[in-house]
Order: sequence, then C-alpha cells, then structure tokens
Amino acid sequence: LSDYIYLYKDFWVTSYVLTGIISFQKNFQAKDTDIILVTFPKSGTTWLKALVYSMVNRKIFSLDNTPLNATNVHDLVPFLESNIYRNGQNPGLSGIPSPRVFATHVPYPSLPESIKSTTCRIVYLCRNPFDNFISLWHFLMRARPKDLEPLSLEYCFDKFCTGACGFGPFWGHFLGFWNESLKNPNKVLFLMYEDMKMENKLQMKRLADFLGYPFSENEEKEGVIEEISKFCSIESMRDLQPNNSGNKVLERFDVASFFRKGEVGDWMNHLTPSMADRLKKVVEEKLGGSGLNLKLFG
Ligand code: A3P
Repeated sequence: LSDYIYLYKDFWVTSYVLTGIISFQKNFQAKDTDIILVTFPKSGTTWLKALVYSMVNRKIFSLDNTPLNATNVHDLVPFLESNIYRNGQNPGLSGIPSPRVFATHVPYPSLPESIKSTTCRIVYLCRNPFDNFISLWHFLMRARPKDLEPLSLEYCFDKFCTGACGFGPFWGHFLGFWNESLKNPNKVLFLMYEDMKMENKLQMKRLADFLGYPFSENEEKEGVIEEISKFCSIESMRDLQPNNSGNKVLERFDVASFFRKGEVGDWMNHLTPSMADRLKKVVEEKLGGSGLNLKLFG
C-alpha cells in the first residue's frame, strides 16, 4: 500500500495497525469460553469466521435468520487489533454473548497473556504460502490508492520471501502456532486451508469436536454439516448483501475484496518457475524439520 512497515518485537507491522495491536495486547481480557481464530493475512480468515460463527451458534440461529444475513462477517467476528480501546474500555466488546468469537493476525508470542492463561481455544488456519502470497498481492493491489503506481508482483514477492510484509515472516507465524498445537493440542487446533477445501466435512467435524460443539448423529443424518458448509462457501458468502454493500474493514478494505477466487493453486497462473523455486527454497530452509507439511502444490 502506501504505508510504512515496522519491525515490532519479532514481526513486521504496517503502520495503521500498530496502535491497535499494542492496545489489544495491553487491554484484552479473554474469557474461558472465548474462541480466538488466528491466521496469517489472506489464508482464509473470512471463511473460518463464517464457519465457526455458524457452527457454535447453530442451536440459536437457523441459517435463514443468522445475523450473517444482516451484518458483514468482519463486524460479527471482529479483529482484536482493530483500534477499538479507549482508556482501557472497549464498548464494542462488552455486549457480545458467549461464546465470543474473535480473530487476530498477531503471532503466538505476542498474544495477550489472558489468551494463554485462560482455557479459551485458539484455531489457527494455515494456507500454502504460494497461494497466500498471490491472494495478498491481489488484495493490496485492490486497496492501493489509485493515484499511486500499481504494486509490482516482483516487488511484493521479494518482500514476502524476506518476511517483510504485514505480520511476516510467514514462517515464524506458522511455526509459533504449529509448535504450540503440538505441545498443547487441547488449546490450539492447527488447520490447513487446502484440507478445508478438499475435505470440508471432515475438517468441520474436527473443528466442532475441538471447540466442544460436536455434531450429533442426528445432525449428521439431517445434513447439518453440509448446510453450514454450503452457506459458508465463497459463492454463497460473497452474495450476502452485507458482504457486498461497500462496508469497510479497518476503515480501509472493502468487505467485498475478501472474496476473490477461493481456490487452491492459483499461484500457478502468476509465479514464474524461478519465483516458485525461490519460495520453495525459503519454505524448505525455514520450515524443514518442523514436521509441518504444507500442501504446496494443491
Ligand atoms: P484468494 O485471493 O486466493 O481468492 P482472508 O479471509 O484471510 O483475508 O483470506 C482471503 C482469501 O480467502 C481469498 O483468497 C478469498 O477469496 C478466500 N476466501 C474468502 N472466503 C472464502 C470461502 N468462503 N471459502 C474459501 N475461500 C474463501
């Protein structure tokens, strides 16, 4: 975009979100029943928000009268680093009924202490960095002020590979939550975008079990999982009125710009073989030996 980027603690932060991150770290008090969705930007946050919100509220709202039909998903499941605290108070968070569902892009070591010390659950959604990068590039291009030169793919790619982009480096982000999910599997569930695409039902069951909202046999027979899955698909979500009516996220991104292709492997349409080779080497160097096996080629 047109913003400065800072190295804050051990990750890069874009200027407009830095105050919000510090405010979140300082003020946020997690409750035991909270659900915190964490992602590196552009790895399917919006999708995960819709799925988890629909899943945990399924006994309260039917899909015909879910608030998702009236309010955009980013307002219902807010980013905790949105700059919303004033003097330690956050009126926007006070009236939310439990289980509260929130999202953040903040890496594990920098999460507020109360998220770590309470029994609240963390769901991490990871996407292969190739598609993640392409998605990020499109998103930044779309949000960039029209009077500035377009962002070149090569420039952005170089920054992404060196880690210097918002909440980067991606490998540190992935590893923080991956290692924590191995140490504490009841606290952190590690999901992959590609698995969610290929075997959505299975992953939704995993998610529901982890969150303590398992699908009953009856619900399975009645096709409840498929209904939620279809409702939260990109085709259905992008057509919901609040998601395409000009609403903004963080006062700058169109809600509609969070729904693009939603596919696995789009990077093949954009990256040259040498670019792909470079990123593959970064992944091998930084994540090799961690046990984290990314679905790199769909
Ligand atoms: P693409 O740009 O590759 O299409 P985030 O929500 O973290 O900002 O990530 C946005 C990415 O998730 C975009 O990827 C977007 O199209 C995709 N996405 C949004 N909603 C989705 C859904 N319901 N199912 C699958 N992918 C979705």
